[in-house]
Amino acid sequence: MRAIALRAPAKINLILKVLGKRPDGYHDLKTVFQRLDLCDDLTFTPNTSGNIRIFCDHPQVPKGPRNLVYKVAQSFQTDYQVGLGADIHITKRIPVAAGLAGGSSNAAAALLGLNRAWGLKLSQDRLLDHARRIGSDVPFFLYDCPWALGTERGDRLEPLAVETRLWQVLVVPRIKMYSGEVFTRWSLLRGPGPARGGILPEGLSAEPPETPLQGPQNKLTKMGDGVNILLHSLRKKDLKRVGLLLCNDLEPSILDIRPGLAKVKDRISRLPLAGVSFSGSGPAIFGVAFSQQEARAAGDILSRFYRQVFVVRTR
Ligand code: C5P
Repeated sequence: MRAIALRAPAKINLILKVLGKRPDGYHDLKTVFQRLDLCDDLTFTPNTSGNIRIFCDHPQVPKGPRNLVYKVAQSFQTDYQVGLGADIHITKRIPVAAGLAGGSSNAAAALLGLNRAWGLKLSQDRLLDHARRIGSDVPFFLYDCPWALGTERGDRLEPLAVETRLWQVLVVPRIKMYSGEVFTRWSLLRGPGPARGGILPEGLSAEPPETPLQGPQNKLTKMGDGVNILLHSLRKKDLKRVGLLLCNDLEPSILDIRPGLAKVKDRISRLPLAGVSFSGSGPAIFGVAFSQQEARAAGDILSRFYRQVFVVRTR
């Protein structure tokens, strides 16, 4: 039986706006996802025992039903009466519970890998349905694109035609953050009242750029927030402006839970980078660099203070 090998990339959110709480308890988002070249490796080998076995030497990766990869395998077995099992090897490089969606990316790899390894021939739409049920960040990784706009729970995706590749430095403090806790804190801090729109940094207008965006991005120009300007700036490689537009509405909640992270962000912000932000629900903090050289220089400095520092690029 054939083994399928797949890479599972990490993501970061350049913009993450929380629009409000939904009746189902989740939050409506508008977010710009970027895929990174920081990747886990997974192999899926079918077995005839029917057992799902996860092999991973990372101590924080669950090997049983708490692993999203296991959940994918189990749901496929149940939904499609699969008699085969799978031996799944995970080489973990993406830090766990860091805001980089490593577990979700592994789950997307499992959807793609087991679909092939078990010969299920499920359509992309069917895989997307499964992905949404596994987690809000999973669908992004089913799209073969480095950039996408996520709306609703972050699980409705619009791939973005952006050629630019960014160099970034990524610091992952060795604490775990839990998305559920961070979103709950967001609701508590916001208190009752209507959902608010995004707030642009000082000096930036919400007006569409002078050159209208063409094609599928046209509707983005009408959104009146930082997303369309960010895309325009990315396409023009105006990294200074990209840096100014980074924003994460979850930052006050992350800092409320872990006040010590303010110092980490502050230290990164003092380096010559275009901009610095948290990814997802943290604690990963990234800085957009003006060049590979500057990303490496920042990485060298930050490595003196933190153990998990990565120099990464859009993938
Ligand atoms: O979808 P996922 O299981 O990854 O989400 C983890 C938790 O994060 C959810 O249980 C929910 O509390 C919170 N969440 C949210 N709104 C989103 C995504 C996640 O409230 N759009």
